[in-house]
Parts: sequence; structure tokens; C-alpha cells
Amino acid sequence: MHGGDALVVLPTLPAGSVDLVLTDPPYNSGGRTQSDRTKVSARDKYVSGDAQHQLADFVGDNRDQRAYTAWLALVLAHCLRASRPGASLLVFSDWRQLPATSDALQAGGWLWRGIVPWHKPISRPRAGGFKAECEYLLWGSNGPIDATRNPVYLPGLYSASQPRGAARRHITEKPVSLLAELAQVCVPGGMVLDPFAGSGSTGVAALSTGRRFVGVELSEHYQQVAVDRLREAAGSAWVASGPGPSVAS
Ligand SMILES: C[S@@+](CC[C@H](N)C(=O)[O-])C[C@H]1O[C@@H](n2cnc3c(N)ncnc32)[C@H](O)[C@@H]1O
Repeated sequence: MHGGDALVVLPTLPAGSVDLVLTDPPYNSGGRTQSDRTKVSARDKYVSGDAQHQLADFVGDNRDQRAYTAWLALVLAHCLRASRPGASLLVFSDWRQLPATSDALQAGGWLWRGIVPWHKPISRPRAGGFKAECEYLLWGSNGPIDATRNPVYLPGLYSASQPRGAARRHITEKPVSLLAELAQVCVPGGMVLDPFAGSGSTGVAALSTGRRFVGVELSEHYQQVAVDRLREAAGSAWVASGPGPSVAS
């Protein structure tokens, strides 16, 4: 687990060493409502009720759409360099940032292969219109995929609930059950990279499904949460190195 800015850490990873990039960047989408868009805190945007006072904030969620596209393209270009030919990329997005994210994915050099909706069973109704009941994974690959390496046939739609209440560790935490299903696109034993690791959910999913993991996280608080979760997921066998908190066997 590396502590620091993804744009600083990613160039230090060995070229061609990653089999799957599975990541959930700060969406920079401006919140759910007009008034949310003026808020500067990610916690104000994404959390309501008592949980707002318990979960740590994070930075990096205030770019406008052009800046988000340019920044994410840079990050994804570094991820491409770290990935082997044929590796997959899965990037989370909400509906607002779908066009920006597909632009960034391709500008970063990845081949865009499709969109996988993530259905969230618990979501608010919206008067006069449709629920925002899904987030999305944009799927890309580092050139052609050699399907003989990992001959899987995966669904094109997933349903899973976000962690709630005391089980929630991060304000935009993704379900490990969903991430574990997505990790099947990575060859068993392969290396999974998450440059926006947050509380380490992708890493827990990777380790619990027999993959390896390298993560980057800017917030010192969430680095530590991730390290603790990864240590628990892997027992004493896991060894991590790099700036920021590390875990040794
Ligand atoms: C959407 S959250 C990821 C949550 C994660 N999927 C989980 O389940 O816990 C995005 C994370 O990216 C981190 N972040 C923001 N800017 C960053 C940067 N430039 N480099 C690395 N991490 C960054 C934030 O601190 C935040 O924890």
C-alpha cells in the first residue's frame, strides 16, 4: 500500500506489472443537486445524517468536467504503462461523468470495451422521474485481450448494496462483494492496482479471491484504514512497500 498522490506514485511502479486496474476515483461530479455542487467537501456531497460526523473527508473532488477529464487521462496513462498488454481496466463513474470518463479512458491510451452497470438496490425515489439507481464501470483493455489466459464469461450487470451504518468505513465505499466479482476478469494470482484505494475495498476483494494487490491513497487516514483491512484480509503473509504506511510479515 503506497501513501501519496497517484500521479507521483504510479510512475514508480514497474512497467507491465499489473493485470487489472480496478479503481474508484473521486467522481468530481458535483453532488446530487444544484446546491450540492457549490459544496467544497466530499463529505458534504456524499454523506447525510449521523454518518457525516463519523467518517473522514477526502480531497480531490472539486475539479470541473474539463479538468477532471484531463487529470483522469493522465492517471490512466500512468496505469497503462504499469499494465501488461491485454490487462483490463475497470473505472467507476456516476451518470454525470460517463462521457468525461470514457474520454479520459481513451485519452489515457486504453481501448474502450464497454460499460457495466452496478445496480444499488437501496436508492432514493425521485419525484417526477427516474431513480439514480445505478453507478457504472467503464471497461477498457491495454490492447487486445488474450482470452485463453483467463477464459471467463462474466455478467454485464451487477447488483450489490453499499456498506451501511457501523460497517461503513469510507464515505464513498464500494461493496467488497461487487469488487470480488469484478476481480474475476483478472487472471488468478494476478496483480490488481487501485490508484485511489480509499479504505482498501479493492485490495480486500483482490486478496480474498487469490489475486495480489498494489494500492495508492492520498489521505493518511484512509491509508491507515486500508492497511488495517488488508492486513486482516491477508493475515501475516502480505508484504507491502513504498512511501506511507506499510505492512510487513
Ligand atoms: C471514491 S474514493 C475510493 C473509495 C474506495 N473505493 C473504498 O471502497 O474505500 C477515492 C479516494 O481517492 C483518494 N484520492 C483523491 N485524490 C487522490 C490522488 N491524487 N491520489 C491518490 N488518492 C487520491 C481520496 O482520498 C479517496 O479516498
